[in-house]
Amino acid sequence: MKKHIVLLPGDGIGKEVIESAKDVLSAIAEEFNHLFSFETHEIGGAAIDLYGTPLPETTVNACKQADAVLLGAVGGPKWDLNPSHLRPERGLLGIRKALDLYANLRPIKGFKNLLHASPLKEEVISGSDLLIVRELTGGIYFGSPSERRDNGQVVVDTLVYTRREIERIVDKAFKAAQGRRGRLTSVDKANVLESSKLWREIVEEKKAQYPDVAVEYVLVDAAAMKLITNPTHFDVIVTENMFGDILSDEASVLTGSLGMLPSASINESGVGLYEPVHGSAPDIAGKGVANPVAMILSAALMLRYSFGLDDEAKMIEDGVQSALDAGFHTADLRVENGRQVGTTEMTKLIVDFIKTQTASK
Ligand code: NAD
Ligand code: IPM
Ligand code: MN
Repeated sequence: MKKHIVLLPGDGIGKEVIESAKDVLSAIAEEFNHLFSFETHEIGGAAIDLYGTPLPETTVNACKQADAVLLGAVGGPKWDLNPSHLRPERGLLGIRKALDLYANLRPIKGFKNLLHASPLKEEVISGSDLLIVRELTGGIYFGSPSERRDNGQVVVDTLVYTRREIERIVDKAFKAAQGRRGRLTSVDKANVLESSKLWREIVEEKKAQYPDVAVEYVLVDAAAMKLITNPTHFDVIVTENMFGDILSDEASVLTGSLGMLPSASINESGVGLYEPVHGSAPDIAGKGVANPVAMILSAALMLRYSFGLDDEAKMIEDGVQSALDAGFHTADLRVENGRQVGTTEMTKLIVDFIKTQTASK
């Protein structure tokens, strides 16, 4: 299979972990006889520094022409005081919007031997396996331009959703639940927000089309609590943009680290973008200690969802499992009696697994 992949390293550890994904994909290409070509473009702070904008036209065009896009992370203290339109995060929101990537799938499944790496009790998290379906191109992130009034002392952010935007993400979540354990939790704040009321109405309407899916509604504050007190309760969670952002970082605690969570930002037919859930981690950037697993697992999701390469995706996931089984882990994971390694060593373990597995076939 011949595929063209655009790499958007971005900033901070994004630049480090994207190399890991590239190495792993190159090993997959070699062992399975695929031709993956890579083209790197700037986004976020790196693009601001070079081109004066967080999302250059050339980056958008390259992504539109690619078979898939991998993104590291954007942001960092260097740009934190920039005006809104010159913040790295604008680049990320812009590319999601430009590619109409309305569905962000964030699977959260604890690796067995990392159960004790979580601050949560093993018996609480054991068996948890959930998918957060986060709406990604609407809501408060994209309402009519935010503004400051009265000398900046009054601020306005608007939360806007259209019926169509809610319908398509809800459909996506119902379908995902059908392919899993058939449970859908719609998370909202319908006791306060008008947008949440319409959200609930639409889930209620859609329910009839998916009789094999059991639906429940949980308010977001209670959902945040249940997620860590009874995580095995959940199968698929569908929620709006900002709630999904917050709940997924919280859910990462089930896996032991934010550095473990991959995600897929997709739609029905266009190019998909695959990105770890974590950010640019300025506190550890440049030290070679970042956990590359979230990025590597995002590359596996790309193989599965964009290219239909299930065996290859599984090989990467098995490689991660194998490294963890052998006790290897990066510094973000609190593993007792494990063997702590850096970004490149962790990556090499996974690459070597791929090479030896295919050699033995
Ligand atoms: P963060 O996700 O970058 O880091 C939170 C904490 O988790 C830090 O202590 C960090 O060291 C740790 N961490 C995250 N990923 C890790 C990994 N792979 N390995 C080891 N440790 C890891 O969140 P933050 O510090 O709140 O934000 C930093 C910057 O990143 C901000 O500018 C923010 O806007 C941006 N951000 C970008 C994205 C993205 O590009 N997708 C996502 C979240 C945050
Ligand atoms: C994420 C990030 C982004 C978001 C930021 C950097 C804009 O936190 O991908 O989870 O909130 O979507
Ligand atoms: Mn986030």
